[in-house]
This record gives sequence, structure tokens and C-alpha cells, in this order.
Amino acid sequence: MQIAIPKERREHERRVAATPETVKKFVGLGAEVVIETGAGATSSFSDADYTEAGAKIAGDAAAALKDADVVLKVQRPLTEAEGGPDELSLMKKGATLVSVLAPIQNKDQVKAYADAGVEAHAMELVPRISRAQSMDVLSSQSNLAGYKAVIDAAATYGRAMPMMMTAAGTIAPAKAFIMGVGVAGLQAIATAKRLGSVVTATDVRAATKEQVESLGGKFIMVESDESGDGDGGYAKEMSDEYKKKQAELVVEHIKKQDIVITTALIPGREAPILITDEMLAVMKPGAVIVDLAVEAGGNVTQSKLGETVVTDRGVSIIGNHNVPSRLATDASSLYAKNLFNFLQPMINKETGALEMNWEDEIILGTGLTRDGKVVHPLLTEGGN
Ligand code: NAI
Repeated sequence: MQIAIPKERREHERRVAATPETVKKFVGLGAEVVIETGAGATSSFSDADYTEAGAKIAGDAAAALKDADVVLKVQRPLTEAEGGPDELSLMKKGATLVSVLAPIQNKDQVKAYADAGVEAHAMELVPRISRAQSMDVLSSQSNLAGYKAVIDAAATYGRAMPMMMTAAGTIAPAKAFIMGVGVAGLQAIATAKRLGSVVTATDVRAATKEQVESLGGKFIMVESDESGDGDGGYAKEMSDEYKKKQAELVVEHIKKQDIVITTALIPGREAPILITDEMLAVMKPGAVIVDLAVEAGGNVTQSKLGETVVTDRGVSIIGNHNVPSRLATDASSLYAKNLFNFLQPMINKETGALEMNWEDEIILGTGLTRDGKVVHPLLTEGGN
């Protein structure tokens, strides 16, 4: 079995889908691994590191992909319309593509995988069951994003985070407020705490209260009978009445905050607005917001993707692209391990070939295309 890892070509993407560590593991299972030259450079892995781990280096994407049975990527293949090379056209019929593929937003591209005879698996659809935790790319990447959001905020914030008692006077600790306490939010709480700030957090899912408190944060929540628990541990969209109550609570609280990290997402929808113009207008000058949901439309009315907006009042709103990629080495290491953990149980120990078990709920959850057809229920409903 040959596994190929092409260089990621999308803007703002510095990660790579295999590291020397995972290459070594695949080679240990009898696979041949081909890395496109320079694929690891932006994650600080050199061609020599990969060669030492047992990989072969290919001169370009076409050479890397042409004989590959399995293609590992971070982001969905580039198309010509997006300024290609059309990566799909470089893959052979029958190849298996494993990547984050954003299938709902890119249905035509999924159809193209099927037409090309490529079996595509979308890693963001790995079901949230305990057996699959080690394969969960959303968790591994969000965790790093939550950490980096606080570091980015601290770097912009014109004051210190911890309390400091000095001969010249005392500096008060920063007040950090984390909105949305999933994987990213929990890591943001832990990081803000470690930097010495006083942390509060909020979420629509009541189960998060205990998690916030166990990290030393104070939980702020709307009093309501409405539950924010949706399917699979995710949040659902809240009623207008709930949103109104939440806004009233937040506007009072946010006046006193120095650093705010927003992470709220709802699967398949635009991110909810949590910080309105009215709230921005009462925040302290010099306060810093990091909107981690900016790529999904944003939790802050005035955040802009790829920019740091400074409001008239002097509040900075940071809207970085692809935050996990800003920690490319660690993000690649964890992502690559997620892919290895996903594939390893499907590799036949005797023949070394990849044999996807389509009765396994993880494979059913990720599999988009099979034998020339789109098969995922998220895409076939509606008559594909
Ligand atoms: P996410 O990235 O989908 O959303 C981030 C957070 O925003 C969530 O906590 C969500 O409740 C919150 N949120 C949504 N709308 C909001 C609003 N209007 N106001 C305030 N907060 C709002 O969530 P993520 O990080 O993917 O985690 C969701 C859950 O799944 C967590 O409980 C996590 O522990 C669980 N999980 C389970 C895994 C497994 O069992 N394999 C793996 C990863 C996460």
C-alpha cells in the first residue's frame, strides 16, 4: 500500500498530514510512504526528517499522488477554479482520500470524488464516541486554537495578565471571559488561568458548569429551563427569548472584562452572535476580543476574517484565519496522529492493505463516497 502526503497549498495553511513519527508507524505496518518535497517545511519537518523515518520524497504533487492508494491531507483538494493544480485529477481511480473535507459546503466537490472513483473520508465527521476520541481532529485542533487565542490576546493586550505586587505599586490581574466552553473554550480557560487572570465563562450547555469550575473559573449562565444540548454533545440554536436574556446578562458582565475569547459554534449553521455593537460600546478601552468563530461568520458583530479591528472605543477584535495552523508543528503532530489512529485498525496486518470496514460506525460516519457513488446520509438525503 502506498500512502502519499502532498504539500498543502491553500492560503493560511501551514500544517501537514503526516509527521516523521506517523510515517515511521505506517512504514512499520508495511506501507510505503511518499511525501511531496517541502510538505513539512512550514511545520518544521524537513525532507531529511521524513527520509530518515522511511519515506520517499517526490519532486511534485503529481509524482507524489500518481500511484498512491491512500492520500492524506489537511484541507480538501484544491481545484483549478481555486487556482489549482487540480489535486483530484492527480489521484488514481480507487484511491482513498482522508482529510477535513467540509462536504456540506462543497457538495459538488464530493460528487467529483465519486466521479473520479476516489473513496473520500471526512475526518471532521468522526462520530463523538469514546473509541474515536483519539481520531477526533476537531478536538485536537480546537484545543490548540483555544490556547493560541489567549496567547494572541495577551500579545495585543497593553497590560499584564497576572497580578503583580511591586515596590512601585500593584497591578491588578486581567479579567478573562470565555464564551463557549467546548474543547477550545476549556483550553482557553486553562491558559488564561495559567497566565494569572481571573476567569469567568459561559455556555448554553449546563454540563459545562462543572467543567468550568473544575478549572478554577466562575460560571455565568442565563437562568432558563431551555436546554442548549443538541445532538452528539454539540449545542443547538437557542430561542429568541433565551438570546435576549443572554444578551442582558452579557452586557453587564462584559463591561468589566479585559480579554474575551469567543468560541461558540453550532454544527451546520452560522455561528451565533454573542457580542453585539451595544456590548462593544460598553467595553473597556484596551480590552481585547479574540473571535475563534470568525471563519464560521463570527460571534462578534464587528469581527473581520484575517483582520484585527479596533473599535472607536479602542477595543481590539482579533479575527485570525486558521488558528490551529498558527501552531503548525503541534497541530500537525496531533492531526497526523488522529489520521494514523483512524487508519491503523483498517490496515490488514497480513497483506498491509487498507480494508475499510463499512460496517464500523466510524467509517460509516466519515465515508462520503464509495464505488463511484456519494453515500453519506448527510448528502444523499434529497436524492443525490
Ligand atoms: P463546538 O466547537 O461545536 O462549540 C463550542 C462551544 O460553544 C460549545 O461548548 C457550545 O455549547 C457553545 N455554544 C454554542 N452556541 C452558544 C451560545 N449561543 N452561547 C454560548 N455558547 C454557545 O463544541 P466542541 O468543542 O466541539 O465540543 C462540544 C462537546 O462535545 C463538548 O461537550 C465536548 O466535551 C464534546 N466532545 C466529545 C468528544 C468525544 O466524546 N469523542 C470529542 C470532542 C468533544
